[in-house]
Amino acid sequence: MATVTSLIGLINKIQRACTLLGDHGGQGMSLWEILPSVAVVGGQSSGKSSVLESVVGRDFLPRGSGIVTRRPLVLQLHKTESGTEYAEFLHAPKKRFTDFVAVRKEIADETDRITGKTKQISNIPIHLSIYSPNEGQSETIVEDIENMVRTYVEKPNCIILAISPANQDIATSDAIKLARDVDPSGERTFGVLTKLDLMDKGTNAVDVLEGRAYRLQHPWVGIVNRSQADINKNVDMILARRKEREYFETSPDYGHLASRMGSEYLAKLLSEHLELVIRQRIPSIIALINKTIDELNAELDRIGRPIATDGGAQLYMILELCRAFDRVFKEHLD
Ligand code: GDP
Ligand code: NA
Ligand code: MG
Repeated sequence: MATVTSLIGLINKIQRACTLLGDHGGQGMSLWEILPSVAVVGGQSSGKSSVLESVVGRDFLPRGSGIVTRRPLVLQLHKTESGTEYAEFLHAPKKRFTDFVAVRKEIADETDRITGKTKQISNIPIHLSIYSPNEGQSETIVEDIENMVRTYVEKPNCIILAISPANQDIATSDAIKLARDVDPSGERTFGVLTKLDLMDKGTNAVDVLEGRAYRLQHPWVGIVNRSQADINKNVDMILARRKEREYFETSPDYGHLASRMGSEYLAKLLSEHLELVIRQRIPSIIALINKTIDELNAELDRIGRPIATDGGAQLYMILELCRAFDRVFKEHLD
């Protein structure tokens, strides 16, 4: 079986080609829409960053087309007496942003400042404060940002890791609410229950984990991430995973579920799902790439094949890239 890392490496190469292809991606369907992306959603401190780190590793996550996955966005809402709504970033405290387009551009620019133009992932959050007038007034920037996240997770190719903490009522989970909204059948939602170790004594989450309290298409996975104390003591990922495994294996509540719990199991589930999705998309990807090759050939015929002009050279390079990906995918099919 292909590993998460190798699959995601492949996706990233193709996404880089998409960026190069620009307008040459063919009309209608673009590779951005065919290729899978992963979004981690959940309320504040639900364990999103921890799950990301332990399950996928920030170096291996698909970069996706959306800015929201490349750096975490920490959003704080404030009421203000003044009449107009505005936004401020922690990294630019003196600057007021009054429209969403500018906010979105600043998020993208600030992401690039940290990650370079390489479209890498970073776990360093961007802190954004939004100041809104009192009740009844419009909160357009907040709404626009919620819509931005929603647009991203609504895409049928987006796999949702819905993170809910076990020490809070599942019925109030932001992640489950959002997932249920955009993926009612649950086919692309993975329910992750964190902080099992922080539940009140005498209570457990067996009802959730066994799918009775809230049913999902994919099985729920319980997780025990590093606690704040573990992080302070520099407990590394290897030790954290061993402790997590021990937690489940020795637990009177979850012992019978131990083989289907924990970060490693979640990574395995996710990897299998990604592979399945990519395999399903391979015919469309090959079709799109072939169409692009035909279009590029036609254009090269028109402007002349010698690599004299910059435009020609660039097209030629893209054409070569397409051919390379076509080969990679055909190998992957075998
Ligand atoms: P995020 O805000 O959703 O990204 O949440 P974080 O991953 O940053 O976690 C918030 C805090 O909860 C950190 O101090 C983590 O160490 C802690 N935490 C997250 N998951 C668990 C868990 O499963 N068990 C325990 N004990 N602490 C956790
Ligand atoms: Na949540
Ligand atoms: Mg976080």
